[in-house]
Amino acid sequence: MNNQKLTAQDLRNRYINFFAKKHGHREIKGASLIPENDPTVLFTTAGMHPLVPFLMGAPHAEGKRLTDVQKCIRTDDIDEVGDMCHLTFFEMLGNWSLGDYFKEEAIKMSFEFLTKELGLSLKNLAFSCFAGDSDAPKDEESANVWRNLGVSDDRIAFLPKKNNWWGPAGLTGPCGPDTEMFFWTGEGEAPKKFDSDDAKWVEIWNDVFMQYNKTAEGTYEPLKQQNVDTGMGLERVLTVMNGAKSPFETELFDEVIKEIRLLGNYSEANEEIQKSERIISDHLRAGTFILGDRFAVTPSNVDQGYVLRRLIRRAIRHGRKVGIEVDFCRKLAGIFVKNYCDFYTELLENQERIFSEMAMEEERFGKTLNNGIAVLKKEMTKFESQKSEGLNVFAENFFFEMFATYGFPIEMIIEELENSGWIKDAKDKDFVTANFDKFFKEHQDLSRAGADKKFAGGLADHSEEVTKLHTATHLLHKALRTVLGEHVEQRGSNITAERLRFDFCHGEKMTPEQIKKVEDIVNEQIKNALPVSYEEMTVDEAKEKGAMGLFESKYGEKVKVYTMGEDEKRTVFSREICGGPHVNNTSELKSFKILKEESSSGGIRRIKAVVGV
Ligand code: SER
Repeated sequence: MNNQKLTAQDLRNRYINFFAKKHGHREIKGASLIPENDPTVLFTTAGMHPLVPFLMGAPHAEGKRLTDVQKCIRTDDIDEVGDMCHLTFFEMLGNWSLGDYFKEEAIKMSFEFLTKELGLSLKNLAFSCFAGDSDAPKDEESANVWRNLGVSDDRIAFLPKKNNWWGPAGLTGPCGPDTEMFFWTGEGEAPKKFDSDDAKWVEIWNDVFMQYNKTAEGTYEPLKQQNVDTGMGLERVLTVMNGAKSPFETELFDEVIKEIRLLGNYSEANEEIQKSERIISDHLRAGTFILGDRFAVTPSNVDQGYVLRRLIRRAIRHGRKVGIEVDFCRKLAGIFVKNYCDFYTELLENQERIFSEMAMEEERFGKTLNNGIAVLKKEMTKFESQKSEGLNVFAENFFFEMFATYGFPIEMIIEELENSGWIKDAKDKDFVTANFDKFFKEHQDLSRAGADKKFAGGLADHSEEVTKLHTATHLLHKALRTVLGEHVEQRGSNITAERLRFDFCHGEKMTPEQIKKVEDIVNEQIKNALPVSYEEMTVDEAKEKGAMGLFESKYGEKVKVYTMGEDEKRTVFSREICGGPHVNNTSELKSFKILKEESSSGGIRRIKAVVGV
């Protein structure tokens, strides 16, 4: 490796150019962080996530070879953040074959990119393949491709499903064996034999061979087509390519960490302080991207808003640990906006919201924090004489109430209880967490299918109900524009098998008459039995045809445009850019009813509605 630093933008460019220009892939625009029409997950967790319908066999307007940069959030390991490697937000570079090339070509391209484009030496690379089990055979095919490229058997490990199988992202959906690529980050020469348990071998890329669909019954059936889904971790590659020890030492974070030290007025940091720095910068980077997303949510006590609140509040707590008291979230967010906005232009467009929400949450938290600590201390003192009896002495819902009333995040309650000796071991900690979760679940908005059910449907439900509600969403969108005006634009859509939820910009509460009018228009179009069809075209063509929807896509990228109501007899009722799927005729919806119209956040209204009742 030479001394020239590889920048994040270089890496994005090199990846996309390699797959687009050299290997015939079409570059598509990464999706929103907040998944549309997929109630089964809170955030987009991988590049493949928005592509599920196409991995299942639906034709993609851009063809069979795709590549992109996808912003992702994974919250499973949120408590691990603070070490050298865990991140909540990250960027995934990906390339896909939708029933086009398979193992051999995918691996050859990966090899070429690693060794030629990035110039990594085979001496520092190792690979793993699926060992095989009763669901699928050992992946000798992939191993042979690696061997033929010059990889020695010592550097190929065969590992079980736990390691070398990817997906489904929900409970059901596309999945398959994968082959993973590792880079040696230890001092000196890499060991001859690859040991996947040695943390100095860092996984940087993953080629998944999606050829199965996991069913609700837990069986693996062959998919209509054999797909490839690859994901390269941008932060990891940037780290190893620049010889850094962690992503926090790269250009992605160094300015923010410098600013933290400036604000905290210190220059040397021990491990404890560094951990706080990593938590602050990881969490505020994720928060910046959530607030800067085109389907942004704001801090709240449910769903994505709750994750966002936890991220910001945990950052603030660690801010205090390093000696920063007030108004810093906004400042650090400003650095992320500045450094990321060339590629993620939405951050600049939404910077006002990012800054004001960060500042408001910090202010709210500051106010309640002091009160809350006093209440918690008082309660602990009250039961001090019964301390030996354990945590049972607190009211069952006490821990949750500390959150509901004082906005105390669960980890903070635990920390306070630990510091004062109430929590002595992992068992005590589990007790508090379980009590908290119990009441937290009850509190979650029941109308949104419930927290448990949320994860039970599998990724991207394309059931008949969901498809009907999706079509109803288009009719509703058009009807709202007819009744309220052309300023109405979609700001979010979330569909479960039970109902649709549609967020749109509109400054005031709708009157009962307006609601009735919208309902009537949609019902009329259902009665009119409008045919539903789609065409693929460029964004410019879609604009020309007056299609509604998000015109956010790469230059020249083809999109699907769904039209409702065009045939010999009729003119178009609605035309909208959308991936689908939809019903064939609006009569399938039978009827439409609005259950609720309410405020979602400033200037955004929310409608919940059902069909077929
Ligand atoms: N879906 C796979 C992953 O997340 C490859 O993109 O690693």
